[in-house]
Amino acid sequence: MREFLLLMNRTRTDSNFSVENLSENGRIDIGCRFINSTLFSSYSLRRDVITHLILRGPPKPPLHLEIDGRNVRGLYPDERSIAGYIKKNIRSFEDRNVSANIGVKIKREGLENFLERKKVAPVLLHESGDDISDIELPDEPVFIVGDHRGVSDEDVEIMDKYDSTIISLGETPYQAQQVSSFLNIFMDRRL
Ligand SMILES: C[S@@+](CC[C@H](N)C(=O)[O-])C[C@H]1O[C@@H](n2cnc3c(N)ncnc32)[C@H](O)[C@@H]1O
Repeated sequence: MREFLLLMNRTRTDSNFSVENLSENGRIDIGCRFINSTLFSSYSLRRDVITHLILRGPPKPPLHLEIDGRNVRGLYPDERSIAGYIKKNIRSFEDRNVSANIGVKIKREGLENFLERKKVAPVLLHESGDDISDIELPDEPVFIVGDHRGVSDEDVEIMDKYDSTIISLGETPYQAQQVSSFLNIFMDRRL
């Protein structure tokens, strides 16, 4: 398996957002594109990927949404459908404390608790890291990517406690979904 985690610094932690207006709700649109780029190839879902979003906006941060490609159902690649899927699952969590779809888990958990529970050394993506071509990636990596606000010093400190590796795709700053698309293709070609 490979796992991708997006830190969403301002994204709402409730279902009170409109799928018609994605970029105005703490940039949930970035999460939708990240889900598309991590969990889909051209024609199918990637069954070897788990995607995590850690939402940190109001009203009650943090919220961790996990989508497991091995058994997810009813997920379609367009941004609006993905936004509806996220909204439906958060609403179900608010109402009944469970997600709405098989393959989706939601909990009130932040980055540190996630790493503590997984006992994993994460691979952080940052322009200033070691070049990806010079690094031996783990067989089952957990990649961590920032949203438009990036990754804070506090996040870096947390990851450091779990023996993180910091890797770079070069000096050019890319969008989160561009980084994850590259990583998926890079990993596909390694197999
Ligand atoms: C749009 S960028 C964040 C920009 C933000 N303003 C900042 O200064 O960090 C989104 C994320 O993609 C990853 N990223 C972007 N370009 C990268 C690169 N060249 N190498 C490695 N990671 C990169 C980082 O995790 C970054 O937080």
